[in-house]
Amino acid sequence: MRGEKNGLVGIDRVMEERFNQKVQKAGIGDLPLIVEIENKLFTEEEGRFEEKAYRWLLENPRDVRAYLSPEEIEDYDIDPDEEIIDASVLLYCVHDIVVGHGTIIVSKDADGKTMGRIYSIGILKEYRRNLFAALFMGKMEQLLWMAGCEYVALETHASYTWWVDHLKTRKYRIMEIVKDYYTEGEDALKMRKELYG
Ligand SMILES: CC(C)(COP(=O)(O)OP(=O)(O)OC[C@H]1O[C@@H](n2cnc3c(N)ncnc32)[C@H](O)[C@@H]1OP(=O)(O)O)[C@@H](O)C(=O)NCCC(=O)NCCS
Repeated sequence: MRGEKNGLVGIDRVMEERFNQKVQKAGIGDLPLIVEIENKLFTEEEGRFEEKAYRWLLENPRDVRAYLSPEEIEDYDIDPDEEIIDASVLLYCVHDIVVGHGTIIVSKDADGKTMGRIYSIGILKEYRRNLFAALFMGKMEQLLWMAGCEYVALETHASYTWWVDHLKTRKYRIMEIVKDYYTEGEDALKMRKELYG
């Protein structure tokens, strides 16, 4: 199934049946729910995504940068030469309850390799510490692998040490420390995991 057309639609049936969890690709009709969850997960200082950003992501998944100004592209440390192939906002559901969301982006890097980016992941407070984020990460990695990605890249707060430790157990390596990456002046870690298969 690797490289399946558009690649971002698969559901792991075993997990779905065993744990009654599923990952659903969001559509424009899900926008109010996505914004509601985003507002619960992140403050403005933490870099919360605005409604217009999610609207753009949902309506223009192959041109996600176009709503950003040149200053924002520079601020967000986005490579202007990276060619975006697709982007998906995903809803993570357990027993048909949406417990979190995440965003993944497939693109070509400067060397022409297909790469996957886990742009965000969040689980609502009342559902945390049930390993849902761990399972959701696994699903996102699987979707990126199915889309033909050779590796997964992500950024995380350098101060979230337990999350960084979790990512290391998932075989993510720290590639770079970016000073003052976040709005509140916090450093970010750029991490990467190779996908094999
Ligand atoms: C980060 C986040 C997604 C984790 O969600 P979660 O469902 O509670 O995480 P899990 O239960 O799957 O736990 C994953 C690992 O982190 C550990 N963990 C989770 N919350 C923790 C906490 N508050 N303190 C210490 N360790 C914690 C778990 O023990 C587990 O460790 P393991 O590698 O030993 O198995 C959630 O806290 C969140 O949504 N935070 C706000 C958004 C955010 O910061 N997103 C990440 C950066 S974009």
